[in-house]
Amino acid sequence: MVGQGAEDVTSGKEGEPYARLDKPSSMPRINLALVKPSEDYLPAYVEALKHGWSPSMHEDVREDELARIRADARGFLAAVNARDVRSGLPGFHRWMWDGEFAGAIKLRWRVGTADLPPDVFGHIGYHVVPWKRRRGYATAALSLMLGEARKLGLPYVEIITDFCNVPSQRVIVANGGVLFEEVDALRFRIAL
Ligand SMILES: CC(C)(COP(=O)(O)OP(=O)(O)OC[C@H]1O[C@@H](n2cnc3c(N)ncnc32)[C@H](O)[C@@H]1OP(=O)(O)O)[C@@H](O)C(=O)NCCC(=O)NCCS
Repeated sequence: MVGQGAEDVTSGKEGEPYARLDKPSSMPRINLALVKPSEDYLPAYVEALKHGWSPSMHEDVREDELARIRADARGFLAAVNARDVRSGLPGFHRWMWDGEFAGAIKLRWRVGTADLPPDVFGHIGYHVVPWKRRRGYATAALSLMLGEARKLGLPYVEIITDFCNVPSQRVIVANGGVLFEEVDALRFRIAL
């Protein structure tokens, strides 16, 4: 049974074990935590938004996010920890933390099924701030988030990416993703 709530799916906090992916020796070890969005980390998130990073690849949501945080920071945090704001599905965000804010990853799901509504773009989406890319962070973050999806009882997750988004495709494949459909985009599944 796919879980009903996010209360039992907390990721590592700062100080808890970091992702350690055993990559070939050419790849440095990666020290990255997924942290639960909280008031402690919010200033760094706001700084990233002000620095030009947008947590959506479909639209520039920086001003909207800044306005929501200014109006009600606690409400903003409660929302990103409880549901997927865009679809209204249960879901939560985690922020990538390497001592600084490094990016965001979200997981959303439907209760009782691995299926998603057709307009929802996969179970997991991730964004690394441009100034911290190509360090293995997205690959490590997805690996950690798969652990959270497993706890929910999902048999697999779907991740959808554009044909031209080679970095994202590499992130998915490095985490065991298998391409199962190519229509408007590439749809991958990762068995859990
Ligand atoms: C896609 C994205 C998350 C990758 O983040 P990242 O932290 O740089 O990814 P990683 O460092 O884990 O790299 C993953 C792989 O992609 C490769 N890669 C990363 N950036 C690349 C680039 N610009 N060109 C070619 N390859 C690239 C890496 O070399 C690595 O390959 P390897 O595993 O074979 O060594 C990041 O580019 C991003 O945030 N893009 C905008 C949002 C987005 O596209 N999200 C995905 C939605 S499905």
